[in-house]
Amino acid sequence: MSELLEVKDIVAGYGDGPAILNGASLTVQPGKVHCIIGPNGAGKSTLLKAICGMLPVRSGNVRFKGESLAGLRPDQILQKGICFVPQERALFPKMTVRENLRMGGFSLKDQSDLERRVDEIEEQFPILKERRDQHAGTMSGGQQQTLAMARTMILRPDIVMLDEPSLGLAPKIVQQVFDIMKVMADTGITILIVEQNALLGLRNADWGLVLDLGRSLFEGPANDVLEDDRIQELYLGGKKVA
Ligand SMILES: Nc1ncnc2c1ncn2[C@@H]1O[C@H](COP(=O)(O)OP(=O)(O)OP(=O)(O)O)[C@@H](O)[C@H]1O
Ligand SMILES: [Mg+2]
Repeated sequence: MSELLEVKDIVAGYGDGPAILNGASLTVQPGKVHCIIGPNGAGKSTLLKAICGMLPVRSGNVRFKGESLAGLRPDQILQKGICFVPQERALFPKMTVRENLRMGGFSLKDQSDLERRVDEIEEQFPILKERRDQHAGTMSGGQQQTLAMARTMILRPDIVMLDEPSLGLAPKIVQQVFDIMKVMADTGITILIVEQNALLGLRNADWGLVLDLGRSLFEGPANDVLEDDRIQELYLGGKKVA
């Protein structure tokens, strides 16, 4: 099998509470963009949290490069190459843009290597170079999202998981998020994105997963998900106009 990550029939929930994920599965292929769709409360964010170790997996398994991630802490999973950008972006608002980028690589021992990597990111994203001394919290939503996404690249991860990166952004900015995602994918990073705008998300993805009630209902090439009549009716706002 050539999957980079395999999530198989996982059950997970918060604390002693009920299972929120109840048979969630997903196959992640290297270098591709994967989009998870489903209604509010379906468990999409919970699935990303379970993959990155923020929630224990009660049964089923998550395998990364053929190795089980069971029992690993989020920092250990990050070190292995899976990075998670939560919905709230988790920037340091009172730090500058450049300091935020450096924080993305705080675990690197070699300071000059870290500086080199930060320089590289600034070259890839000119807006971050231009704004390097500005406090992150004073940038626009789109710029903050750019920073949150670019920051993940410092550690050169295999997989970046993004929870609704376009939330709250003006419609004309939203496409920028997908453009950044493509820049990341072009450098070889595999993307897992949760997107509220299912049509837009799937159109910008290679692979789609429909999650509902904590279960995987359908996964396959994004085009197949877009073309499926039942999925269109239930999750994509009705039938296409021919
Ligand atoms: N920290 C938490 N503690 C307890 N229950 C939680 C917690 N976070 C989420 N839940 C519950 O888990 C279920 C799934 O939530 P989740 O956030 O994963 O859904 P989602 O698919 O991401 O929804 P949305 O589209 O609204 O972001 C919901 O019933 C929610 O109430
Ligand atoms: Mg969510």
